[in-house]
Amino acid sequence: MKIIFAAPSSAARGAVAVGVMAGAKLSPSAARLDQATGGALVRAIKGSRFKGNKAQMLEILAPQGVRVSRILLVGLGKPGEMKDTDLENLGGAVVARLATSGVREVAVMVDAIGAFKHKAPRRAARYGFGALLRSYRFDKYRTKEKAEDKPGLAKVTVMVANPGAARRAFADLEAIAEGVFLTRDLVSEPANVIYPKSLAREARKLTKLGVKVQVLGEAEMRKLNMNALLGVSQGSDREAQLVVMRWNGAPKGRGKGKTKAPLAFVGKGVTFDTGGISIKPSAHMEDMKWDMGGAGVVIGLMKVLAGRKAKVDVVGVCGLVENMPSAKAQRPGDIVTSASGQTIEVINTDAEGRLVLADALWYVQKKFKPRAIVDLATLTGAIIVALGHDHAGLFSNNDRLAERLTAAGTATGEAVWRMPLGEAYDKNINSAAADMKNVGDRGGGSITAAQFVQRFVDKGTPWAHLDIAGVTWDSKAKPTVPKGGTGFGVRLLDRLVAEHYEG
Ligand code: BES
Ligand code: MN
Ligand code: ZN
Repeated sequence: MKIIFAAPSSAARGAVAVGVMAGAKLSPSAARLDQATGGALVRAIKGSRFKGNKAQMLEILAPQGVRVSRILLVGLGKPGEMKDTDLENLGGAVVARLATSGVREVAVMVDAIGAFKHKAPRRAARYGFGALLRSYRFDKYRTKEKAEDKPGLAKVTVMVANPGAARRAFADLEAIAEGVFLTRDLVSEPANVIYPKSLAREARKLTKLGVKVQVLGEAEMRKLNMNALLGVSQGSDREAQLVVMRWNGAPKGRGKGKTKAPLAFVGKGVTFDTGGISIKPSAHMEDMKWDMGGAGVVIGLMKVLAGRKAKVDVVGVCGLVENMPSAKAQRPGDIVTSASGQTIEVINTDAEGRLVLADALWYVQKKFKPRAIVDLATLTGAIIVALGHDHAGLFSNNDRLAERLTAAGTATGEAVWRMPLGEAYDKNINSAAADMKNVGDRGGGSITAAQFVQRFVDKGTPWAHLDIAGVTWDSKAKPTVPKGGTGFGVRLLDRLVAEHYEG
């Protein structure tokens, strides 16, 4: 989708979208169109339930007196209450509404209206961002879809009095969208295309943007005693990989101004999760192609940070494995020694994500002594039972980090909900045979999983774990997220970085 910013002019082709405020109060652009069409807008509003409420829409086809083929009235609600996400959602909703309508382009008129908190150029940029995010489609394998069935909308022109300022505000947002799209692509690809080596190859492409990418294979991981991760990979013919990405964008401290330790992001990258010997039922097993969603977010986030040249040092580490049953596969009851030295009794080979995270977390701490760590993982089905598909589960040993993540989630529309951690839950994963076992007994499955992960975090390191099993894939579209891979986490973590760790 092309998103363009231009000075206002009367649109000549396709559709024009204009705002109407609560109480059916026409924006200046809408009022001008109403005049040009001999009052068609007011008549249409009178003949409908459209009141200009937030996200309401009304289409007027083939209006007289103007060159466009349709006018789309967009409800703005009360402008004073519009947040970033509301603006983005409107942009997305316009795209969704017109995608298969027959028009190839739409001009979105953005007026200077004092009641908005955002000035017109910033608003224009947010509309464009929402429109771009919603335009994503993963259709590369659909060879037989007819052109007339594909979305035809190809261009959004956001018309605003200062298009240069809008373009500048949009530049960072476009970089964010590019990272989100990469994540969506990676989780949408099937497991015969995206496996540890090919996913590592995708990460390596970030080198072009200035990200330093290093990949460890199984031999190197064996030397480091990363047996928890390697045990998961053992049944697969695909070689496990550990991807280490570094974006060093912080201004270099001169003299005694020492550079700060990097911020770390760690992703679970199980490119396919059959469950292993503790094999999953076949219904919906295909969903487990997106069990690398945590790694997908970390890779997409690195692309964003490099794309917008974020002034921060960040390291992203992804543990990439395929969890397969075979004659070589890990068995229930096996005991592995993780790189941290802690031993793990593998009761259930389907609780593999935490085993991968254990060694990836050890690596990132050992190598980089990060100032804080956020890990992301499609870790448990239990988080879907607890929170459904509208919040990711947040677990943290640090209230400040948890609050920052919660606020970033609200601001970006990628909401997280904090879950408890504690001694009593932790006891649940004690084992009689080893230091711990990889599953708890009944109940609180997402919490015991988080407790397991926490056992691999050094005391004193601020850490948060996001269980994204419920939000990585959506069977229903949202205003800025088409159905399918969501990219959930990229916008959230970019915001976290921008608000608290840059400069
Ligand atoms: N990848 C799954 C979790 C998952 C389930 C993600 C559904 C997305 C949708 C994870 O590896 C897993 O299998 N977890 C088990 C843990 C159990 C064996 C303790 C689960 O949630 O059932
Ligand atoms: Mn599993
Ligand atoms: Zn899994």
